[in-house]
Formats: sequence, structure tokens, C-alpha cells
Amino acid sequence: MSATLFESFKLNSTLTLSNKILMAPLTRCMADDELVPTQTMADYYARRADAGLIISEATIIRPDAQGYPNTPGLYTQAQIEGWKVVTAAVKEKGGKIFAQLWHTGRVAHSYFFPGGEVISASNLGLEGNLSRMRELTYQTPKAATTADISQLVEDYAIAAANAIEAGFDGVEIHGANGYLVDQFLHHSSNNRTDDYGQTPENMSRFALEVIDAISERIGSDRTAIRLSPGAYFNIEPDSRDRQVFDYLLSQLEPRNLAFIHLGIFDDSMEFDYLGGKASSYLRQHYNQTIVGVGSYTAETGSEAISNDKFDLLAIGRAFIANPDYVEKVRNGLELTEYEDGMLKELV
Ligand code: FNR
Repeated sequence: MSATLFESFKLNSTLTLSNKILMAPLTRCMADDELVPTQTMADYYARRADAGLIISEATIIRPDAQGYPNTPGLYTQAQIEGWKVVTAAVKEKGGKIFAQLWHTGRVAHSYFFPGGEVISASNLGLEGNLSRMRELTYQTPKAATTADISQLVEDYAIAAANAIEAGFDGVEIHGANGYLVDQFLHHSSNNRTDDYGQTPENMSRFALEVIDAISERIGSDRTAIRLSPGAYFNIEPDSRDRQVFDYLLSQLEPRNLAFIHLGIFDDSMEFDYLGGKASSYLRQHYNQTIVGVGSYTAETGSEAISNDKFDLLAIGRAFIANPDYVEKVRNGLELTEYEDGMLKELV
């Protein structure tokens, strides 16, 4: 029933995946205190190397990008060396791996970078407590100046070059789930009045600058982005966001990216202003490769691919519970059910 998932897929002239199952990016907070990936992480990823493509857990591009404890980085030589061990372990098993590049913007906390400032599109803060450090409350961010924006774009590009040096096959820009890139794309977090605010063209500018700087450095064939046109996490929806994504997707179409990956937890969610599911909206506005995700099983995901809803399927929680997910699905074996308690250990 899930045979479609086991067909190979040509992403572009340089990358062919051995099957259509991606391991979704999954933050596990288990890098060491210098935010260097560990041998345990290498073993964890290598056990999942039979996915068509692994997307790494979100990996910060510089210190003020951090909003969760022990998330790995890609800005020091030690972090690059740590990732080399991970990518080599995945390659030895015949796998492919992209790095997910992350700046959390206003979801960051200066607890992780003492003396530094939290930065975002605007000075509009989140309410409440950090999700994995409940004792900390969100801070009001500083609105990035245009000089800050130029530096951020450069730092994304440097992190992408570092990812290639570390042996990754490419990068996925984390433009989803209410983090920095997404904060520019939604009206509830962006009230700028300069070239980066108010109109769809301006609100898309930062995302496009990051994409172009990275593509120039490592090639568009190795550059992907994750997007959440439907606001559902760390951000409030606004019906005007629709026009921003309409414009952004029209601009991404000719850029020959490796893929666009939807960012969502449950793709049965419907968004009024998108006219239904976020995946259907993406399909209507983008004709290249789309990665679907969000509470799919191998069966429902395979059916969605067969019905042309998207091209590739990312699997998150089931990959935490089942290192041998691909093998189990291929052989029709029963899967272990995911539970939050499994996050305590890297198995
Ligand atoms: C996530 N997700 C996520 N997304 C992302 O873009 N970067 C990340 O680092 C993480 N981290 C993360 C950690 C944990 C513990 C969970 C459960 C989820 C979201 C993930 O990639 C995926 O979109 C969702 O889990 C939905 O897919 P499943 O789990 O329904 O297959």
C-alpha cells in the first residue's frame, strides 16, 4: 500500500533520493555545552540513514539564535568538526543529510547569550514562558536595523558554507513555525515601515535575501526552505498574510530550490485565509517539489503522494519512536507508538 514511498526521487541534477521518506527535523537538545554535536547524536542519525533524506534537528547560525538548551550550532570550528562525525556516520550507511539552519528571533532568550539582545522583525514580543525552560519568560525583542539584517543574511550564508564543509548534502532554511524568517512573513510579528514591512514584497525580502545569499554560496540545488503559510505556533494568524505567501511562492518558483517543506504538526488543520489545508495551498501556488508533513502515517502519506498532494513525505515523531521506521514500513511490521517521555534519551 505504501509502495510509492519506496520509489527513488530525483530532486535535481545533483541529488537523487533512494526513497520518498524524509526524517523531519526534530530538536532533541542534546548537543554538549559548547553546542557541539556528540557521538551519541552521530549514532542516533546513523540508525535512521535509510530515510531518503534526513533533515537535521534545527541548528543555530550564531549565538543570539538560541532559544532552547543544548541545541547544536554551525558557527564554530568545533561544531563543524562535531557535525563531520555525524555526516560521515550517515554517509557510511548510504544516507543523505541536510542541515536545518535556525535563528529563533523573538523566541530566543539572552539566558543563552548573556549580555546580548533578542532580535526580531519588530519589537513585538511573545507572551509566556519558554517551552523547554519554563522558569524563563519571553523578552521584548529589538527590531533589527537594516545593518542587523545584512549581518543576519551573511551569517546564514556562512552557516550554510559551514554545513557543506561539515559534509552535509545541503541545507533547509528554517523559515517555519514562528521563528525569525517567519516573523518577517506575518503581520502579527512584523509592523516595520521600511523596505522589510507592510507590503508582500517588503515582508518577503528578508526570506528571499537569505535564500539568495545561501544559493550563491552553496548552489540552489542544495538549498531548501521550510515554510508555515498557516500560522499555528509562536505566531498569531492574520488574513493579510495570505498575500505575503502568494508573492513569496511566486518568487520561489523560478529559483530552482531543492524543495519547499511545509512546517506544520497536523496537516488536517484548515486555515480560512488559505482556503483550506496548508499543503493544498502550497500545491496550488508552487509547481516544484513539495515535502508534506504533519500527522501522516506511511499509508495516508503514500496516498497523498499518489493523489499528487505533495511529492515527498516527512515523518517526525514516528522516527523518534522507531529508528528502523523505513525497514518496518517496508516489511509491514508494527510501529512503536511515540510518547513524549521518549525525548529524554537519544535512541
Ligand atoms: C519538532 N518539529 C520541528 N520542526 C522543525 O522545523 N525543526 C525542529 O527542530 C523541530 N523539532 C521538533 C521536535 C519535536 C520533539 C517534535 C515532536 C517536532 C516538527 C517536526 O519536524 C514535524 O513537523 C512534526 O513533528 C509533525 O510531523 P509528525 O511528527 O506528525 O510526523
